[in-house]
Amino acid sequence: MGLSDPDDAAVWKLDERSALVITTDFFTPVVDDPYAYGAIAAANSLSDVYAMGGRPFLALNISAFPPDLPVEILQEIVRGAAEKARQAGVVIAGGHTVQDKEPKFGLVVIGMVGLDEILTKRGAEPGDRLFLSKPIGYGVTTTAIKQQKASPEDIAEVISWMTILNDQASSLAVEMGLKGGTDVTGFSLLGHALEMARASRGRFRLDSHRIPVLDCAWRYAEMGTFPGGAFDNKYYYQADIRFPEGFHELQEMLLFDPQTSGGLLLCVPETKADEFMHKAHDRKIPFWEIGEVIEGQGIEVIA
Ligand code: CO
Ligand code: CO
Repeated sequence: MGLSDPDDAAVWKLDERSALVITTDFFTPVVDDPYAYGAIAAANSLSDVYAMGGRPFLALNISAFPPDLPVEILQEIVRGAAEKARQAGVVIAGGHTVQDKEPKFGLVVIGMVGLDEILTKRGAEPGDRLFLSKPIGYGVTTTAIKQQKASPEDIAEVISWMTILNDQASSLAVEMGLKGGTDVTGFSLLGHALEMARASRGRFRLDSHRIPVLDCAWRYAEMGTFPGGAFDNKYYYQADIRFPEGFHELQEMLLFDPQTSGGLLLCVPETKADEFMHKAHDRKIPFWEIGEVIEGQGIEVIA
């Protein structure tokens, strides 16, 4: 796809019909349970292939692990990733571990995509309606876990969202012939939406009332457990984002909250929106309509 715009993964044309999609991601633990951490890391790494309309088939583990921790913990991380990969129909064919002070884990993932199926950040067109497949609020919640402020119910809820694969959302996008899409991860909903708006030379209008936020994320936002990345995102992106007058400061921070293994953000042309929503509903794929693409540039958040 070239290096001019940011893409979710590298795409390598194989022949006149298909291309390889290659990506990698790894990070320090976001939850205490090693099995869940492995599953989240796998779902997150696979997501960049799904975000480009690809079908992952092969992966490798990348891990760093402290020599003084019991090796059973690493085995649980790897097992969580392997079972999530199996659910995705992906084989983990090996990998590599190094010693490090803090655990780190993720995957290298390879997938296939048809040349006419590729979803990109530059595929948004004025008139498109914007759909998001998972709620936001994972950064503020996982930081509350690190600070031992999170309840077991909230931990279970955020884990269940972060371990959901974006496979079904992606295959629906491909089936519907959509062109614009990305996944929402560390740069926050607003950061990733702005990347798309810039690459597509359009303006995104996001309806703040329709953006799904985990209930518990509001509580942790009030407790102030935002990770540093939320403030970085605000610093980097706020100049191109217009908020309504008197917009709630915590709500603004939630829109800048970095996500791990977040949902797909898809651009659906007006003519396809009814069919898209119908099929998503029939297949029980969660989607929230959160706004639209208009002429112009940057992002406007409306109340
Ligand atoms: Co991505
Ligand atoms: Co990524």
